[in-house]
Amino acid sequence: MAQQFEDKFNRKFYYLRLSVTDVCNFKCTYCLPDGYQPPGHKRPAFLTLPEIKRVVTAFADCGTSKVRITGGEPSLRKDFPQIIETVANTRGITKVATTTNGYRMTKQVDTWRQAGLTNINVSVDSLDPRMFHQITGENKFTEVMSGIDRAFEIGYEQVKVNVVLMKDLNAKELPAFLNWIKDRPIQLRFIELMQTGEMDELFNKHHVSGTDIRNQLIANGWILKARSQNDGPAQVFVHADYKGEIGLIMPYEKNFCESCNRLRVSAMGKLHLCLFGDHGVELRDLLQEDAQESALIERIQAQLQTKSVSHFLHDGNSGMTPHLASIGG
Ligand code: 5AD
Ligand code: SF4
Repeated sequence: MAQQFEDKFNRKFYYLRLSVTDVCNFKCTYCLPDGYQPPGHKRPAFLTLPEIKRVVTAFADCGTSKVRITGGEPSLRKDFPQIIETVANTRGITKVATTTNGYRMTKQVDTWRQAGLTNINVSVDSLDPRMFHQITGENKFTEVMSGIDRAFEIGYEQVKVNVVLMKDLNAKELPAFLNWIKDRPIQLRFIELMQTGEMDELFNKHHVSGTDIRNQLIANGWILKARSQNDGPAQVFVHADYKGEIGLIMPYEKNFCESCNRLRVSAMGKLHLCLFGDHGVELRDLLQEDAQESALIERIQAQLQTKSVSHFLHDGNSGMTPHLASIGG
């Protein structure tokens, strides 16, 4: 194995988030409120299977064991099962996850599992179908829920569900969400709304800290689970009466970045050291032949030395990231 990916702050990166498309068919108010806008100019195609194979191999050779395939909506790629297979068959990769809006899950999750997908995150911003429609721009609540049921039916032991917390919208739904996970092995992850470049009033109007939820959980007997070394920034709570768990992702909290263990590669083949505030470093020219692997690793290692200690979001930095569909959240 080449030298493990590590930065100046002794953070090790065993987790790659790989975006395979910018395209999405939802219009989440906090992400793509007007839906996906194809660029006016002709842009290069998204990473191909051989390019994906090479980038994942380089990461795996430097200690990465987990890959999350993201988008946009990754399942919109026709070759999504082949992408999963390619990642799953890379030596050293033991976890292959995806984050999906769940739209195609009922029909396709069997194929994803056969291809080697080990973990699924689905976004469900509300348990009220009308609110779900209001937040995501799509009236697909029932389809998404049946996709989750199907995942359990075919043998997934846990499904993670992402909820972006929004004041005056879903923030009041905690009791309904708790009820939902009482008998279901779901890890429900409340994510604080993050301010991105294209967002204007939405952030000020709807941002709410996870602190309130944390206090309610603690008051009701939920216990913070000890973190293991490879865990990311989520705080996970468990309760003896519940099969499900609650994760809190609070990027505005001090020290959030200390447990950063991930790097990102965009669908265009750019390396992003952080969700926020960087332009991305071109890798694609080094993804054209297997023989380029050592040069590729060298470039990534050099960039890692420039990774900054924090995202500085608390200082109002929303960086270069127009919306999270552009680099996969
Ligand atoms: N703030 C917080 N979470 C976001 N996501 C997308 N945009 C934002 C944002 N501005 C989340 C989605 C999905 C994951 C891909 O990223 O809800 O769960
Ligand atoms: Fe699509 Fe995900 Fe963005 Fe919603 S958050 S618009 S599902 S990429």
